[in-house]
Amino acid sequence: MRKFLSRPKRPTGPGPDAAGAALWREAADFVRLHRSEEPGLGAPEGRLAEIREEIRATGTYRHTSEELVFGARVAWRNSNRCIGRLYWRSLRVRDLRHLTDAEPVAEACAEHLRRAANGGRIRPLITVFAPEAPGRAAPRIWNEQLIRYAGYRTADGSVLGDPRNAGLTDLALRLGWPGGPHTAFDVLPLVVEGVDDKPRVFELPADAVLEVALEHPEDGWGGEWGLRWHAVPAISGMCLEIGGIHYPAAPFNGWYMGTEIGARNLADTDRYDLLPRIARRLGLDTSDDRTLWKDRALVELNRAVLHSFDRAGVTMADHHAESRRFVTHLEREERKGRTVPADWSWIVPPMSSATTEVFHRTYDTAELRPCFAHHPEAAARARGESIRRTP
Ligand code: ARG
Repeated sequence: MRKFLSRPKRPTGPGPDAAGAALWREAADFVRLHRSEEPGLGAPEGRLAEIREEIRATGTYRHTSEELVFGARVAWRNSNRCIGRLYWRSLRVRDLRHLTDAEPVAEACAEHLRRAANGGRIRPLITVFAPEAPGRAAPRIWNEQLIRYAGYRTADGSVLGDPRNAGLTDLALRLGWPGGPHTAFDVLPLVVEGVDDKPRVFELPADAVLEVALEHPEDGWGGEWGLRWHAVPAISGMCLEIGGIHYPAAPFNGWYMGTEIGARNLADTDRYDLLPRIARRLGLDTSDDRTLWKDRALVELNRAVLHSFDRAGVTMADHHAESRRFVTHLEREERKGRTVPADWSWIVPPMSSATTEVFHRTYDTAELRPCFAHHPEAAARARGESIRRTP
């Protein structure tokens, strides 16, 4: 949609309708897909004529609620990096397309988290805010997820907290966030940019952030070190694209798979880097990689994650079950005559890979739409750089 926003008033190259024509083609593909999968809605022709006229008159068109729900669900179904797609039909959709200003968007994000957490029985949910339109930008959430832990840069060059979020932490502080209590797990405020506004920070209310204290089933280090993680992974830095319409602010969540936290967030050397500390605590010989101290510490950390979420009554998948479910999903979709696009390097779990079924096969790598797309400038935003939108 950037092409709309930056389009010169008097286009030189392509004709004045080039953007409209591209939008029309994508809209038509989407409506045909929708009607073919939900034949009860009738043939697409009437709806197509309506959309064609709306695009001619206004340069854009508005999805019906049914189209929005179907589009969001299929965007999940088409997410080739996601192993959890078996339940794509269960995605709940909150239609908040009338919201364009930073403050109501931030409040609705907090409410999203409450509804998604659902006291521990996590519900897959997406909240859709105003889309982009010709000459009008849409609201934006700068956080890559609604809940992220701050990463404070310290004098000695290290980071307190999650180094991945150091850029956003810098930015939040520049925008007036006073900072949290300086633990390793301070929840960052939301950074939201309304349609006619500069980015502003909004603290998340405590009751919107469900967290799980991590405890190893047999050992005390989880509690002693104050380890914790949040219950809801809610991606807020991707753009929902349906039938040529872009919804840049459309936070969505499923539930966690244990390895995301235990084998990546808390284990990666450029994240919390806990494996050496755990290995030392367990008395393992860390002088040589060949003692497999990393592997052994990794297993104990992942046991702690699964055990703690179970004990807290918070939904969490494990990589063995989720792999089986994904294969069920593949088979089910193939029976319906649909391809399941998948990226092997993302689908395969980051530990014990070859013990899971998803390792032992290849996948179709098509990129289908509707989809969730990365904002082109998301990486720069994660580094905390301010990016001005073209009007
Ligand atoms: N891997 C990301 C994280 O650890 C979350 C990505 C989405 N995950 C999910 N289970 N829906 O925070």
